[in-house]
Amino acid sequence: MIKGKPQTFALQPGEGSLRARQDLGSSGVEDMTMLDDLHEASLLWNLRLRYDKGLIYTFAGSILIAVNPYKMFPDAYGLEVAKQYAGRPLGALPPHLFAIGAAAHAALPSPQVVVISGESGSGKTESTKLVMQYLAAVVPGGGSASAVITEQILEAAPLLEAFGNARTARNDNSSRFGKYLEVYFKSGAIVGAKITQYLLEKSRIVTQAPGERNYHVFYEMLGGLSEAERSKYGLLEAEKYFYLNQGATDCASGRVDWASLQSAMQVLGVSEGEREGIVRVLAAVLHLGNVYFHRRQLRHGQEGVEVGSDAEIKWAAHLLHISDEGLHRAVTSRTTEARAERLHTPLGIDQALDARDAFAKALYAGLFNWLVSRINSIVQKGGTHDAHRISILDIFGFEDLAENSFEQMCINYAKENLQL
Ligand SMILES: Nc1ncnc2c1ncn2[C@@H]1O[C@H](COP(=O)(O)OP(=O)(O)O)[C@@H](O)[C@H]1O
Ligand SMILES: [Mg+2]
Repeated sequence: MIKGKPQTFALQPGEGSLRARQDLGSSGVEDMTMLDDLHEASLLWNLRLRYDKGLIYTFAGSILIAVNPYKMFPDAYGLEVAKQYAGRPLGALPPHLFAIGAAAHAALPSPQVVVISGESGSGKTESTKLVMQYLAAVVPGGGSASAVITEQILEAAPLLEAFGNARTARNDNSSRFGKYLEVYFKSGAIVGAKITQYLLEKSRIVTQAPGERNYHVFYEMLGGLSEAERSKYGLLEAEKYFYLNQGATDCASGRVDWASLQSAMQVLGVSEGEREGIVRVLAAVLHLGNVYFHRRQLRHGQEGVEVGSDAEIKWAAHLLHISDEGLHRAVTSRTTEARAERLHTPLGIDQALDARDAFAKALYAGLFNWLVSRINSIVQKGGTHDAHRISILDIFGFEDLAENSFEQMCINYAKENLQL
C-alpha cells in the first residue's frame, strides 16, 4: 500500500539516461516485472504514471501494489466488477484487489493468506474490507445460513473499528490493533470466520498526542446516548473527560453513529444486557480518568495521596459493581500479601496516577478482548476444522514519528519482520 501520490525524484521524462528508456506509454505497465529497469525510481515512475490516470492498482508479479487515491471510485468495486474477476487467473484482467481475491479463491483448497502491508493511512483496512466484500459477493451462496454468516462477518468490521480505531496524525480512522481474519469455506460457500486480534494500543486509552483522539466508540457513545441515559451513567459531554480531551481536537461523535453501532451489535447477537454492560465499562473508564489526587504528607515523612473528589470513584465503582472503598484503596495504596498478612503501602502521586491509568487500560483491553471473542462465538461456527480457509492479515501501519511510543516501536518491529 502506498499513501498518496508517489514521489518521483531521479527520473523525469526526457531527463538524462544514457540508454534509450523503455516506453511506458501514457499509463505505465500493469505488471512491473515487465519493466526493463527494476529499481526504485522506475517503479515509482510507473506508479506515478498510472496514478495520474486514476489507475491505483499495479501488479509486481503476484503482488498487488495499491496507491491510496483518498477518493472513492464508486464504479470500481461493484458487484458487476467482482463478477468479472471471479474465476479469472491473475493478470487476465487489469490489476485490482478483486484479482487477488479471485486468485486466493481459485487456489483453494490449499489454505491461502492475503498479507496486507503498508504505512499508516495507506489503505490497508479499506483493502481488507474490499477483499472480504469480493468474497461475500462472488462466492456461491450456500443457502440462507451462509448469507447470514457472511453478513455477520461484514458487520463485525465497523464494530471492531469503533473499538479499535482512532484518529491519529496520519489517518482519521487508524486501526490501533492487528487483525487476522480467517474465512472458512465448505463446498464453496462461506461457513464461518475467526478473528484474531493482537497488540491493541493501550496507551491511547489514557493519553493522546496533540491532534489525536481516543478510540471512536467513546465519542460515538457520548454523541448518541439520550439525556436520560447519560444521567443514568453519570456522563457529561466528551470535552469534560481527561481521557478524551488531551489531544485538544474536536470531540464530535465520529464516523459511525451510535444507532448503527447498536444495530451492528444486534446483527452479531450481542444481547441488550451485554450492550448495557459495554456502556457501563466505557463510562467507568471515563470516570476513572477524571479521578485526581492531592499530595498528602503522612507520618514518618512518608508521602501519600488523597483523592480530590470521591464522586468519580463512586460512579466508577457503581458502574462496575465493585466496592468504592476497594477501588479507592486500589488507586491510593499498594497491597502486598505475605503469608497470612496483608500490607497496604501508600502510593505517591505518580504511582497513584499510574494505578488509575493501569486500571482503565486493563478494563478497556478486557472489553476489547471480550468483544472479539463474542464476535467469534457468533461467526466461528462449529465444524470448521475440515473447512478450507482464506485468511487476511491487516496489521496496523508502521509510522516514523518524531517520538515513537514503545507500542509503535513494537509495531514497526513486527512489520519489518513480516517484510522479510
Ligand atoms: N481504495 C480506496 N479508495 C478510496 N479511498 C481509500 C481507499 N483506501 C483507503 N482510502 C482512504 O484512506 C483512508 C485510510 O485508509 P485505511 O485503510 O484506514 O489505512 P490503513 O489501514 O492503511 O491505516 C480511508 O479512510 C479512506 O478515506
Ligand atoms: Mg488500518
